[in-house]
Amino acid sequence: MRTLASAIFHVIFIVSMVVGCKTDKTADTTENSEGAQWWKEEIIYQLYPRSFQDSDGDGVGDLKGIISRLDYLQSLGITAVWLNPIYSSPNDDNGYDVSDYRNIMKDFGTMDDFDQLLKGLHDRNIKLIMDLVVNHSSDEHEWFKQSRSSRENPYRNYYHWWNAERGKPPYRYSLFDVNHDAWMYDSLTNAYYLHYFSRKQPDLNWENPKLREEVYDIMKFWAEKGIDGFRLDAFQFAAKDTSYPAFPEGYEKNFTKYYAMQGNLHGYLKEMNEKVFSKYKVLSVAEGAGNSFEDAHQLVDADRKELHMAYAFEGVDIAKPEGYSLLVFKEVFSRWDSAFAEKGWLSIFLGNHDQARMVSRFGNDDPAYRSASTSMLNTFIMTMRGTPYIYNGDELGMTNAGFTSIHEFRDVQTLNEYKRLQLTKGDLAAYLKKIQASSRDNGRTPFQWDNSKNAGFTTGTPWIKVNENHVDINVALQEKDPNSCLNYFKKLVQLRKDHIASLVYGKYTLLDKNNPDIYAYTRESDREKLLIVLNFSKETKSLNPGFGLQKAQILLSNLSTNPVITNETIQLAPYQAVIYKL
Ligand code: GLC
Repeated sequence: MRTLASAIFHVIFIVSMVVGCKTDKTADTTENSEGAQWWKEEIIYQLYPRSFQDSDGDGVGDLKGIISRLDYLQSLGITAVWLNPIYSSPNDDNGYDVSDYRNIMKDFGTMDDFDQLLKGLHDRNIKLIMDLVVNHSSDEHEWFKQSRSSRENPYRNYYHWWNAERGKPPYRYSLFDVNHDAWMYDSLTNAYYLHYFSRKQPDLNWENPKLREEVYDIMKFWAEKGIDGFRLDAFQFAAKDTSYPAFPEGYEKNFTKYYAMQGNLHGYLKEMNEKVFSKYKVLSVAEGAGNSFEDAHQLVDADRKELHMAYAFEGVDIAKPEGYSLLVFKEVFSRWDSAFAEKGWLSIFLGNHDQARMVSRFGNDDPAYRSASTSMLNTFIMTMRGTPYIYNGDELGMTNAGFTSIHEFRDVQTLNEYKRLQLTKGDLAAYLKKIQASSRDNGRTPFQWDNSKNAGFTTGTPWIKVNENHVDINVALQEKDPNSCLNYFKKLVQLRKDHIASLVYGKYTLLDKNNPDIYAYTRESDREKLLIVLNFSKETKSLNPGFGLQKAQILLSNLSTNPVITNETIQLAPYQAVIYKL
């Protein structure tokens, strides 16, 4: 028996050595003590359903529309789709106000469409991650209708109420309210309810065990359908101190310090893990990672049995309408990498549905540089340690919307702030300038499929204006062009899949830290070392990585001409990105 076992062991060992010598596709060692995991190796494509593809001409994207584009998703090579909310909703906040968690929004289709979509994705080996919005519901959810109907109603404690005879509740800042006031008075029961977001998004009371059980049941309903993960919307704010202590004056300038990771949040996540995550093969990620590395680690370190990966905002928050410093960018991403090198896991992203477009914020959306800078930024996302998230349209270099009038904007946050400034006689012109650069609507314009009137998105009137530059930036054009950023993106995806040990798990080392224009780093596994050089500037710049490059082989480059190397110095064209194997 012993000889047989040891013979089998030797065969397995030899086979794995041979495979290991040939490829870097599998991770045999990782710096991270938590080891290799399927969800670390995913390449996630965030799909905003309202703006992706309309199938019935009502001007709103829908599930049948996505189904008709499944082959496109497959052609990208991505391994998972994160779908923004598709549940029944009156759409005060584009589906982030759910009125029925077990049903599909009418605009988007039916449960049959959903089942078909899930099957279509799975047939193509693409996983589906659903957005779960349970810090709050819609005020049109049956729970809230019951809750507000009387103080004695069994659903009263599903939400946060403050009876008016106690006086005005301590101030709570609301991110979306016209008055920034998170307490809304409801005369029906002479009480205020809490809403950190809009008035139509009352916060759920996580301190109530009944509510928690309802949410776990909803999660099981979707997990049983076979979905592959949950993205927990605004969940860092879910737990509250229900004695509602007063917060210091001006706290709203730094409100996450007071709202995030409060009370028994970790207790609820552990419970959710035990009751749901541990029972299914599902990826879990929450939006936001608190206020420190410690907060983020407490969410995701494996031994805590809470979530899989942190989705932290410090990186995307660097870019301001007036620009940003690459030195700060490098410092932030390097600091986060080193804090998570051994334990915990991060999400890597530069755009999502709450941000202006990646190329307009971090790259250069001037037509002369748009394609190169988009590809350069995607190279960054796809070569960092952590799970990459690509926001739909960023594979094409879609840019900010170019809206000039407030009437073109649709986002509740953007519009309510405008109303607030009207009421308080604020500077509307300055505000318009600000939202042109930073409104969330910049990232929500219809997906650009072709150069037809509505970019192939709809035959009707789109719910939000199509970007005029769809005639130049669209899938049809880029599919045909071997040098397009779309085709480059596909190569990047393949490269990441072919170099899992180094690009997913390998050690990250920052080079030439003080170079203000070039971001250079190595990623290395036991078997190989890759050098990534990214010129973030619109001028030719050079870099000395500090070691010889005689044997360096180019694995991928975003421009048709390769950089010139003299002695040990690499000269990079504007926005050039190159991945070398050393
Ligand atoms: C999250 C979502 C955002 C939404 C908000 C309220 O931040 O990403 O789109 O408006 O939560 O649900």
